[in-house]
Amino acid sequence: MTVSEVTPQSASVMPPKKVHIETWGCQMNAADSERMLAILAEKNYALTHSPDDADLVLLNTCHIREKAKHKVLSRLGILRELKRDRPGMKIAVAGCVAQAEGRRLLKSAPQIDILLGPGKIEELPRLLEEHQVSGQSSIATGFARRHHHDDDQLETGASRVDVPVEVQAPPTLSGKKEVSRYVNIQQGCNNYCTFCVVPFTRGREISRTISDIVSESKALLVSGAREITLLGQNVNSYGSDHGETTRFVDLLREVASLPDLARLRFTTSNPHDFTPALAELFAQEPKLGGYIHLPVQSGSDRILQRMQRKVTAAEYLERVSWLKAARPDIAISTDLIVGFPGETEEDFAATLDLVEKVRFSFSFTFKYSPRNNTPAARYLDQVPEDVKEERLARLNSLQNRISTELNTAEIGASRQVLFLYESQKLPGFYYGRTDHFRLVRVAAERCLTGEIANVQITDANKTALLGNLI
Ligand code: 5AD
Ligand code: SF4
Repeated sequence: MTVSEVTPQSASVMPPKKVHIETWGCQMNAADSERMLAILAEKNYALTHSPDDADLVLLNTCHIREKAKHKVLSRLGILRELKRDRPGMKIAVAGCVAQAEGRRLLKSAPQIDILLGPGKIEELPRLLEEHQVSGQSSIATGFARRHHHDDDQLETGASRVDVPVEVQAPPTLSGKKEVSRYVNIQQGCNNYCTFCVVPFTRGREISRTISDIVSESKALLVSGAREITLLGQNVNSYGSDHGETTRFVDLLREVASLPDLARLRFTTSNPHDFTPALAELFAQEPKLGGYIHLPVQSGSDRILQRMQRKVTAAEYLERVSWLKAARPDIAISTDLIVGFPGETEEDFAATLDLVEKVRFSFSFTFKYSPRNNTPAARYLDQVPEDVKEERLARLNSLQNRISTELNTAEIGASRQVLFLYESQKLPGFYYGRTDHFRLVRVAAERCLTGEIANVQITDANKTALLGNLI
């Protein structure tokens, strides 16, 4: 982002307007919310943590599963009541629900003043002005176009010619300094997994330049970040829209070389585009740590094929073996869907089997949710809801057992923990993550936020570890 355009007059004379932002869904949405906050800050908006005193309430929505969409609709109902009392309050809906539903959403929720898809974030100020003038709902949906300079500038930092001299870190949504920050490296996805709505809501892949990403990362480090997570729907194919295939490893090397950076994470990796070179980087680059999120979705080849994931369970296990060869202690997490159309008890057993084999440190588990426009929603052999429920419960109980076992095995170990924040409920307790991305809680008399410290692990459950500073 370039230097603020707020004029001294507007900053000093006009009291700031207040924006309240609510974010659903993935980290990509969190990063988009930060970006929108940065854009609004340039237009003299300040963050407020409640809709009650907000001039603008911005819902950044998720469409990945039906449940996520319903939450947004029920929230819009509550905001309608609020707007009845305070008609000056504006409601903006951004994110994937805005993109996917478009004008249809305005029919069921006419209280919406502004509707903008994830590819149109930069148009937010224009929409606000347009709405101000017309009093009508303003809409911008559709996909982002590649910026001109992206075409010829995917080169590494050696020739960073057009990077803005001053790049500011986007403000945080908490309003506080954050140790761990996200950097978007890519928009959209070209994969068209048959269950997934993302290619329809976020469009095709567009990679940012390495130089832009490095500049933003530097700005975040200057603002106090110590950990950066590079975000994309399919980070392993980063740069392939520019005719290259090895760019993601180059990008990781470049960002990892920033001296103030303590840890570098990335998500989401698709096993299809996962390369041995990326696995090897875990042996070479200590800042990557011993953790990766690698969604598999199912352990059944038949289901994987129907999902159009383009890898078999054996190929997934092969990638796990590359990772283990580079970093034997690597912790791997995953995403799993149960009840995909046509999933039999045998297919589901293959998923349980894969979970037992890999022993994921944790899993995000989902019941299949049919999404409009996606091929799987049209498959005739949908699995009944009660079967999905029952399989999800069995899968969760297996994963919980494994997570508990893996966490319990940490008791007695000494781990380097990067501390991220102080507990809000329990002041004096600090939360951080180990190199293997395990959450740890430690009591301390001084502020640990932002520090890396050695911790002796004393206790564990399925989600977190307890420890003492050494
Ligand atoms: N139903 C259930 N889960 C889904 N996911 C994506 N689309 C669907 C769907 N239609 C899950 C996948 C993906 C994660 C972000 O959300 O597991 O990796
Ligand atoms: Fe969706 Fe598949 Fe793309 Fe992930 S890789 S965003 S699941 S289409």
